[in-house]
Formats: sequence, structure tokens, C-alpha cells
Amino acid sequence: MLQRCILRTYHVLALVLCLSAREDFDWTKNEKTSFYYSTFPTGFSWGAGSSAYQTEGAWNIDGKGMSIWDAFTRKKGKIFQNDTGDTSCDGYNKFKDDITLMKDMKLNHYRFSISWPRILPSGLKSEHINEKGIKYYEDLINMLLDNKITPIVILYHWDLPQLLQEKYGGWQNVTMVNYFNDFANLCFQRFGHKVKYWITFNNPWSIAVEGYETGEHAPGMKLKGTGAYKAAHHIIKAHAKVWHTYDMQWRSKQKGMVGISLTADWGEPVDITNQRAIEAAERYIQFYLGWFATPIFNGDYPQVMKDYIGRKSGQQGLGASRLPVFSPQEKSYIKGTCDFLGLGHFTTRYITPKNYPSGLGDSYFADRDLAELVDPKWPDPGSEWLYSVPWGFRRMLNFVKTQYGNPMVYVTENGVSEKMVCTDLCDDWRMQYFKDYINEMLKAVKDGVNVKGYTAWSLLDNFEWDEGFSERFGLYYVDFSNKNKPRYPKASVQFYKRIISSNGFPNQREVESWKRKAVETCVSSNQLLAADPLIGHMEMVSEIVIPTVSTLCILLSAVFLMFLLRGRI
Ligand code: NOJ
Repeated sequence: MLQRCILRTYHVLALVLCLSAREDFDWTKNEKTSFYYSTFPTGFSWGAGSSAYQTEGAWNIDGKGMSIWDAFTRKKGKIFQNDTGDTSCDGYNKFKDDITLMKDMKLNHYRFSISWPRILPSGLKSEHINEKGIKYYEDLINMLLDNKITPIVILYHWDLPQLLQEKYGGWQNVTMVNYFNDFANLCFQRFGHKVKYWITFNNPWSIAVEGYETGEHAPGMKLKGTGAYKAAHHIIKAHAKVWHTYDMQWRSKQKGMVGISLTADWGEPVDITNQRAIEAAERYIQFYLGWFATPIFNGDYPQVMKDYIGRKSGQQGLGASRLPVFSPQEKSYIKGTCDFLGLGHFTTRYITPKNYPSGLGDSYFADRDLAELVDPKWPDPGSEWLYSVPWGFRRMLNFVKTQYGNPMVYVTENGVSEKMVCTDLCDDWRMQYFKDYINEMLKAVKDGVNVKGYTAWSLLDNFEWDEGFSERFGLYYVDFSNKNKPRYPKASVQFYKRIISSNGFPNQREVESWKRKAVETCVSSNQLLAADPLIGHMEMVSEIVIPTVSTLCILLSAVFLMFLLRGRI
């Protein structure tokens, strides 16, 4: 929130800046004519994503333990309208229906996460394995495979077992490394003969910064200037350990791959002729993506992070840098622990240098010495932070290629939201977003970036963390007010289907007809959705009103009968 408030101030700044320095921007980057008609390499994998806490619901069903998100959402005022993921999309009970939706879209893969406390309620493998939780994921994986949909499985999408938070302080404590490794090892043992794509962590930046620095996310800790760095340090070690476990114990038998999924925005220098702006933009990306990617691919934190945090820690009179240090053994243990990189990407910022004097207090944000700006012309249909800037995606992908030795990349998250008030299923802006972002990814493939797959975020509208259900990223609209959580296709479902079946954008004539055709189909879905409150009302009548009235009638009759009988006696 705080970060968003700061950003809001910069919106205004950006406006002023844009008006006064228009020539600084290269507007041709957004020109429609730069659309590239071609297809992706054969075998390119198309998918959609979800995560356990955001989608499953069933928070206390079948022996599941509590996660930090179950605890955090119970604290008043942390989440928009105090929403919780208690029932969410009810994915736990409706996964078969969801696989039917995926099949209809002809998805090649589905990326989802395993809830650690669903299979290890206390977090510890040595204490209790919840077989019902294991069975749920077995059924999900089996049904995906029966339908020729490859599971891409994330081991940690933010839902740490609450007991590990309470007993040890969660990711502030290095003991998480072993506990997480035990959990991962159990998953390899139970599911690894069927799952070939494993991702250790999803978006560790968010876990560290929003969980332990700003406290906007669970576990809500505000340890400014140290908490995020410490959490990240342990997460990187945990990732490396799990990769080695797989490598030593399972790889030869199971023949799968283990990667990590890093989510980051692109940072573009606000003035590409200004060296200080160029360096600030570089810092932005190194503090974001590089923080995790550089140790994993190159063996240590980015030099610029070590320099800036070290210098500022010194100015603050600290004896050591607030950025923890890897020992030489740790560096070589961590380096190269990534069979493929999962990349999440949503938006871009313009970056300008800004000095944060050390007296103002330390924080991850101040350590970077920069300010983020946005162009007021960028479309922003939903979440406040999410501006559609497709060209940033191509730059990000090329950055990954050059910085980390052109690793195999799976895009694990990319998409756009709309606000709660919007119940229009004809989501024109989302089709445009997907079209432009996927096209930039196609250009990146042409540039030689080794992208193997793309995951639209998300399959369904779901619980959007501190924003509750107010922001909808789904290809499918979910009616959360109805206890059956019905799903309705937005127009983007049809649009994405066409991209998938053509494996890209074959030619102008065809592609230009896609939107029109998609909108034709969404009109009928809109009507269905409009009828939904009526259906909900009818359900309420049959499930609540009728039984209540009947019970009352029976009671009244009984009382009446008693009076009658008494009268006789
Ligand atoms: C990335 C997160 O991993 C995901 O959980 C979230 O829904 C999207 N960002 C959109 O905010």
C-alpha cells in the first residue's frame, strides 16, 4: 500500500515530466505497425496458472493445517474488505470442472502450487503427513495427465505453515531451509514419477519485500532494511538445497527439471541519453530480478547491491552490511542450481536517479537510490500498479538472455486485471494486453531468447492477496457471491484459444478477426452472468427459505395440537 501511495505521487511527477520532456520518450516503441506476424517454434507450450491459497479454498478441510495466509487474513484491516481465501474458487472441490475448461482451451500445461500445510499440517515431515492432502494433488495431477496437460508444479506460492512462522519466525530463520527441503523431498517422492517440471519458489521478491519489509503480505512483518534481505538469503539457500536434493536423489530416475520462478517489472531509463538514469534503471532491475537470479546463475549477489547496501550500512554506523554474505562454499553450491528459469512479468516503470539520505531510515526502497515513474498514457485497466507496456517484456526477456547465459525460460505469469465493479465479460483490454505482450515475446524468440512456454495469469479470478477479491485477473470470471462459485468465460478465453491453436499470429487478416469473433461469443456469457443473481436468489429460496418455513410450520402445528389436546383434557 505504502509503495503504491508513493507511486501515486510519482504519477503526478511523471505527468509533469512527460509534458516537459516529451522528446525523451521513444513513442515508436508502441506503434501498432510494429506488430510481428509469425508463429512460435513447434512444441511451444501454452498454459494458464493458479496458486493454492488464491484458488483452492477448503482452508480447514480434510486435515489441512493453517498457513500464514489463513492467519493473516483473520486479522482485521489487512485485506481489502477483510476478504479471506477460506472458500475462494473452491478449486479443491471443482478441479475436475477446471480441467474441463483447460481442455477446452487446448492448454498444453497448467501451473499450480502445492499447499505445504495441506500435506504437512504442522510444516514438519517428521510430525504428520496428511494423506488426504496428498490424494488431492495425486488426483489433480492424474487427471491433468489423462487430459494431456503437463503439470508445472510450484512448491511454494507463499502459504508457509503457520506453525513454522509461530515457532521459528518463518523465513527469518535459517531452519526453514531444511524444513522446506523435507517438504520438497516428500513431493518428489510422492509425485515426481508424474511431475517433470518443478519450481521451488514463486516470486520470492514478493515474499521477502511484502512479507518481511512492508508487511503488506503475510506474515505482515515490517523489518525495514533487514527483513527482506534476510528472508531472501534463506530462500535462495533453500532453493539451492532443493535443487541439489533433486539432482542427487531423483533426477536420474525421474528425469525432470527444477527451476525457480522470478517475477519482476522492467525498468527503463527515463532518459536514455543520461548515464545516471541508465545506471538507476540497471539498479532497479538488479535489486529486483538480479537479487535472486545473479546468485543462482552467476554465484553471488549483484555487485551493485553489495556496493549500495554496504555503503549505506556503513553510513548508518553498522559494522556490517545489511545484505547478508554468502561464503565461498555457499556461492559455488548455489551457482548453477536452475534447470530452467520461470519468469513472471506484468508491467514496466521509467526510472530516474533519486538520492535517499541515510538519516531518513533504512529500507530496501531507499537502498536503491531511485524513483519510479509511469507514463500517464499507458493503459491501466485494473490494479493500480499494472500499466500495459508490452515492449518492456521483450527487453526483460533479452536482459535474461544476456545476463544469465540464455537459460531455458518458461513465462510463468503474465496477465492483467480489472476492478471488482467490472462484470463485463467482453474484456477487450485483456485481449489487447495478451495480444501485445505475447507478440513482444514472439519478437524475443526471434531475438534468440530461449523461451519455451507461456502461462497466462490466471485461469480463474481468484484471491488477489491484500486486494482480496477486488481485482480480477482471470480468463474465467468467478461469481464469488454464489456458493457454487460458477465460472464464466470472458472474451479473452476465445482470444487466447485462437493464439494457442495458431501457435502465434499467423497473418494480419486472420488475427484481426479474432477479437470480433471473441466478442460475439462473450455477449451470451454476459447474459448468463446477468441471470446469476436470479439463480442465486432461487437457490436461497430452495435451500434456506423453504426449509426454514417448513420447520416453522411443523413447530406451530405441534404447538397448536398441544393446545387442542390440553383443551380436551
Ligand atoms: C504475481 C503473484 O505471483 C500472483 O500470485 C498474483 O496474483 C499476481 N502477481 C498478480 O498480482
